[in-house]
Amino acid sequence: AAVTGPTAESVAYPNIALVKYWGKRDEDLFLPVTGSLSMTLDIFPTTTSVRVIDGPADVVEFNGVTASGAERTRIETFLDLVRAKAGRGERAMVVTSNAGPTGAGLASSASGFAALATAAAAAYELDLDPRALSRLARRGSGSASRSIFGGFVVWHAGEGEGEAGDQSSFAEPIGGDGLDPALVVAVVNQGTKAVSSRVAMRATTATSPFYRPWAESSVLDLAEMRKAIAARDLPTIGEIAERNALGMHATMLTARPGIRYLSPHSIAILDTVLALRADGIMAYATIDAGPNVKVLCSRADAPHVDATLAGLGDFVTTRTAHIGPAASLTTTSP
Ligand code: PMV
Repeated sequence: AAVTGPTAESVAYPNIALVKYWGKRDEDLFLPVTGSLSMTLDIFPTTTSVRVIDGPADVVEFNGVTASGAERTRIETFLDLVRAKAGRGERAMVVTSNAGPTGAGLASSASGFAALATAAAAAYELDLDPRALSRLARRGSGSASRSIFGGFVVWHAGEGEGEAGDQSSFAEPIGGDGLDPALVVAVVNQGTKAVSSRVAMRATTATSPFYRPWAESSVLDLAEMRKAIAARDLPTIGEIAERNALGMHATMLTARPGIRYLSPHSIAILDTVLALRADGIMAYATIDAGPNVKVLCSRADAPHVDATLAGLGDFVTTRTAHIGPAASLTTTSP
């Protein structure tokens, strides 16, 4: 296919929520039930290039392979949204690759759609400020709204439904200057999860009797978390993050039928985190829609925490992350 526009290339990093997004109030617009708060990482980036082409269909290359099925459809649907906003009809060539594992609860969809939103908006000449880009990324994957920004980021639930909800549900950075924690990522399974977060969220909100109580407590967790970040109080940040994540998993476990992302290896790591705390090391766990565990601690303690987790056995591999940057456009070439 002939190239008709410049190539826009972007890089975006995953983020890990310290107060989770779990449940949508509007599935089409990706409006969340509650606000959430995350830390953008400096590992596992997604690099994506988008160029407008003169051809009959979008071409999508994902991790070096031509994408098909649901993966391709999800990207195409997102490009359709970008084209609708831009008033354009041409197809695109998308080349995207993840430095980290895909679909393993390691926020590949967050970095993925933040990178795609950034590159696609540029390729289709949509002039969006970061807030509008965050709202756009949200439509690919809710958590992607937060990966538009670096550091500590809050994603507002927004007010109202429809257009009002869409306008008011965006992410923004919240400071936390002077806080420089580490997040030790303990990967116990690189495979793609059996149940997508989208399906699991839908089932949880619809059937778990624990969902409403968790959502109500999560609103309070978010307010407390913002205070703890402003106070640069890492132990309190860790305590809130750990209880919020365990509560989210309680809502999944009590869906009908129950959904369980935690594996025996996840539990072994949770036990190790408790043992580290008993030894006076401030380490706190958070877990997303997968069995991998992320452990929040100080930069100084990270080598010890990383070595302790890596020493558990062959079933675990570790990577230590720190605060990472905002999504960015790297090149635009003719
Ligand atoms: O945006 P999604 O569909 O990848 O959902 C993210 C859900 C969690 O990772 C479990 C929580 C979060 O806030 O990132």
